[in-house]
Amino acid sequence: MVLIKNILLWASKNDWTSQKLPKYRFIQKSLSRFMPGESLLEALDACNNLENTNYGTIITYLGENVTSENQSNGVTNHYLNALSEIKNKSLGTLISIKLTQLGLDFSKTTCITNMKKILDKANELNTIVWIDMEEYKYIDKTLDIYKYLSNYYSNIGITLQSYLYRTNDDLFKLLDFALYIRLVKGAYVESESVSIKDRDLVDNNYIDLSKIMLNKKNLSKGFKPSFATHDDLIIREIVNEANKNAIDNTLYEFNMLYGIRPKLQNEILKSNQNIKILISYGEEWFPWYMRRLAENPKNLFLLLK
Ligand code: FDA
Repeated sequence: MVLIKNILLWASKNDWTSQKLPKYRFIQKSLSRFMPGESLLEALDACNNLENTNYGTIITYLGENVTSENQSNGVTNHYLNALSEIKNKSLGTLISIKLTQLGLDFSKTTCITNMKKILDKANELNTIVWIDMEEYKYIDKTLDIYKYLSNYYSNIGITLQSYLYRTNDDLFKLLDFALYIRLVKGAYVESESVSIKDRDLVDNNYIDLSKIMLNKKNLSKGFKPSFATHDDLIIREIVNEANKNAIDNTLYEFNMLYGIRPKLQNEILKSNQNIKILISYGEEWFPWYMRRLAENPKNLFLLLK
């Protein structure tokens, strides 16, 4: 399983596989389970259906590591238009962005300028913007930009990964000022020197971090944690922790990915917990799809079927 996972993660970064594999019909067909469509309107239609059944929604436009100012401006305009469409359709959908999609690889200034445009527009709509966390080499820069933008905007959230040794320290620093933190396990290949390799230890770290995030002192400052996981055991631990400490279930939420463990999503919704579903869309789906397959190599059998 570890070998399959590593091959999938390698394929997500390889130029040859990225060009060839997306053209195969069977790969495109299997994708529909995880992505309602490539276009913004297909994503928002799916959000509409989900919101009609009381799920919250988040969208993310796929594509990472843009290499020019033009591309960064294009992605920014895409998100500005997405926010207008969300408003026109009276949806509560939030957006979630990767900073390398806004130019983090070549210009911090371009990235910040474009993030500000998106945050200004989101502010008008009274909605928050999530920042995804990418590979290890981007973490310091991402946190610096998040911290800088937090001086001017309160409608901004950041993602932390429980598979990293450093996350405990990062969390404590962020809790001084952050209002929205989303905790994930982490989806990239990282070296042993920085990331925990044992899955049980990653899970234990997730639980430890979630308990810190659910601390009443933090919640009383207006901090709202989001727990992004499909791990039912972790979800149960979090709900138990909240119940034990009489924490109202409006003070935290769960996030899951479209198409992953829909039965569990429904159970969480039915148990009166807040849950948002993140929908990814766009033509640049290949690396993202490989990462989703790698999260559960059993998906490969589904694809082959
Ligand atoms: P785990 O991988 O242990 O899965 C728990 C169970 O869920 C599995 O046993 C399986 O049954 C099921 N499952 C999980 N993934 C599956 C899949 N792809 N297909 C089928 N079944 C699956 N990562 C990151 O590094 N940076 C980020 O910014 C984000 N952002 C983000 C936002 C949101 C809303 C979510 C839900 C996730 C992310 N992630 C992320 C991805 C995250 O790091 C992680 O890779 C996945 O959520 C899978 O981990 P789980 O916590 O679900 O646990």
